[in-house]
Amino acid sequence: MNNLKKYTVITGASSGIGYETAKAFAARGNNLILAARSMDKLKEIKAEIISEFSELDVVVRKVDLTVAEECFKLYDSLRDYNIETWINNAGVGYYGYIAEQDVAKLQNMMRLNMDSVTILSSLYVRDYRDIEGTQLINLSSSAGYTIVPYDVVYSATKFYVGAFTEGLARELKETGAKMVAKVLAPSATETQFAKVANEIESFDYSKELLRYHKAQEMAGFLMELYDSDFTVGIVERENYRFVLCEPIFAYATPLVKK
Ligand SMILES: NC(=O)c1ccc[n+]([C@@H]2O[C@H](COP(=O)([O-])OP(=O)(O)OC[C@H]3O[C@@H](n4cnc5c(N)ncnc54)[C@H](OP(=O)(O)O)[C@@H]3O)[C@@H](O)[C@H]2O)c1
Repeated sequence: MNNLKKYTVITGASSGIGYETAKAFAARGNNLILAARSMDKLKEIKAEIISEFSELDVVVRKVDLTVAEECFKLYDSLRDYNIETWINNAGVGYYGYIAEQDVAKLQNMMRLNMDSVTILSSLYVRDYRDIEGTQLINLSSSAGYTIVPYDVVYSATKFYVGAFTEGLARELKETGAKMVAKVLAPSATETQFAKVANEIESFDYSKELLRYHKAQEMAGFLMELYDSDFTVGIVERENYRFVLCEPIFAYATPLVKK
């Protein structure tokens, strides 16, 4: 492993929050590993970042994270890199009433939003949990803390991400690991997300929504979470305020006798 250089991995870095997060980490002098399906976009983003920060190493990886084998291959392909931060950002929505939804599309969303996050988080934790300064950040949603109508399955996948990551964060603390795990929970943010979730050609956030954040603002919130000692960074649905806090979900005390 090349121990001198440290890298930040960002999945879903070809657009939206992932793209803005890549630029925010680059501005702080971090080498990057950017993953998504659109290699052309990743190459453009690499060129854009290198033109501004020529000292940085930017590695790009084409991967379809709905395929478990590709998740394992992605991780294996990064064995020679020293990964300080891993951000599981890639995710999609798919709006609709459950009775009317295409089950194959639901499965695809579940594989991306839950399976890939679990596989990549687990592999990263296994290898890096005892390395000082390492962080895992997983993207949930405010819909991962409040069930959103017409968006129930997506909401449920994000409840999973929150529960998994909060639980992992507690487990890491309780077992004396050096790695920390955190959850970012955005509310509506202007990206490709609404277009994809609605399966439409375009979506004008300024016309359709009363409130939303820009992707760059959301990347700024992610950096606040990264810099903090808190586990959760959530945009409150009621007022769109960004709040840093301790884990939100109830957590059981062990039943075993000691
Ligand atoms: N925008 C919002 O309102 C909002 C609110 C709450 C939470 N979030 C969460 O924020 C995260 C980022 O979303 P965003 O809003 O930035 O949306 P976005 O602009 O649509 O970006 C999604 C990213 O995920 C990648 N991706 C999609 N399917 C993939 C696959 N099968 N394999 C690998 N990469 C894949 C996309 O790249 P390719 O298409 O090139 O693969 C893209 O880079 C998601 O987890 C989302 O659930 C968003």
